[in-house]
Amino acid sequence: MRYRNAGSTDLKLSELGLGCWALGGGNYWGDSRPEDEKKLLQTAYNLGINYFDTAELYYDGRSEKALGHAIKDLPRNRIVIGSKLFPTNAYKDKTIDHCEASLQRLDTDYLDIYMLHWPINSKSIRVFTDDESLVEHPPRVEDTVADLLKLRDQGKVRYIGVSNFGKRWMQEFERNNIQITVNQLPYNIFSRAIEYEALPYCVQTGSGIIGYSVLMQGLLTDRYQSIDDIPDQYCRTRHFHQKRSPQNRHGEQGCEEELKKALNKLKTIAQDNELSMSQLSINWAIQNKALTCVLVGTRNPDRLKENVAGASKRLPAEVYQAVNEISRPIKEIMGPQIDYYESPENNRTTFTS
Ligand SMILES: NC(=O)c1ccc[n+]([C@@H]2O[C@H](COP(=O)([O-])OP(=O)(O)OC[C@H]3O[C@@H](n4cnc5c(N)ncnc54)[C@H](OP(=O)(O)O)[C@@H]3O)[C@@H](O)[C@H]2O)c1
Repeated sequence: MRYRNAGSTDLKLSELGLGCWALGGGNYWGDSRPEDEKKLLQTAYNLGINYFDTAELYYDGRSEKALGHAIKDLPRNRIVIGSKLFPTNAYKDKTIDHCEASLQRLDTDYLDIYMLHWPINSKSIRVFTDDESLVEHPPRVEDTVADLLKLRDQGKVRYIGVSNFGKRWMQEFERNNIQITVNQLPYNIFSRAIEYEALPYCVQTGSGIIGYSVLMQGLLTDRYQSIDDIPDQYCRTRHFHQKRSPQNRHGEQGCEEELKKALNKLKTIAQDNELSMSQLSINWAIQNKALTCVLVGTRNPDRLKENVAGASKRLPAEVYQAVNEISRPIKEIMGPQIDYYESPENNRTTFTS
């Protein structure tokens, strides 16, 4: 396993991190048992993974609780825990209460990275609450930043990060005299929106990037024969037709035909290079030096080993370029919008609220 510095800091993250949303078990990812989670975390640690990602939102805190339990036997000072605060909870002083609740669930004294899960605006808040007064009066960014800095001064948080922030949201945050250590952003072969603006901006300002959905929730693995086999809940992004899943909110046509064509070509490339699809996908993402760490979510130690084996290889330059060319039409259709779940009008990552 190789390690990279998070932005301009000394904090080192493994190139492959473990996404822990599925821990605790629930509707979205299915069952997960504490004894299996302990084995999974021990396997991850033995393989050199040091970054573990969670959020208060994941299964209403059960992911944090399960992660806290699963890492009990690991040396705390050798692992990096990142959690996230939801914008509905980022009001003055509430931020502090929510961070303390996360610490309690994780059964730890400090978070290595504390991120704001989505930009603070009415559109982000509307997705997760029916309370119109919250939608009309989102938290003030300066209050949230002041609380985050307080948490850092108290030693409860080592580094402050954000997630799903486009350039202008990062700039608004930074106007409050805060260095963003990392921005956690969606990044995979078919989701390259960050390459237009957010990624170059992170590089320019010294923020690291933690990539999520690197396996596109299973599509970029060998799990499914065709995109038609993917369960509805994993087809909610703008890549899929609005009618593909009853949970789709974006109202767009998607690009399913282009996805099918590109997937067939990628499968051939993976086979020719003796890689599984997940290994090709992970490899491709890690190849981008702007990424500090790429997350994969799995509850299975064997699949984790397969993924780590993928992370240890490097794609030949011509293969990397070929993957870029295959995915270019999808990149162009999807455009620069980082929010893959919403229509352009409801895009949470743009500046205006
Ligand atoms: N900041 C944000 O807004 C945000 C949003 C989403 C996710 N995240 C973070 O990213 C993490 C990953 O979640 P994701 O949504 O991005 O999912 P993902 O990692 O793209 O995909 C996870 C899915 O891939 C499957 N999988 C993993 N390795 C595999 C392999 N080798 N072969 C076949 N299937 C494989 C997993 O199944 P099994 O469990 O059965 O192996 C699971 O169904 C989350 O845990 C979370 O920490 C952050």
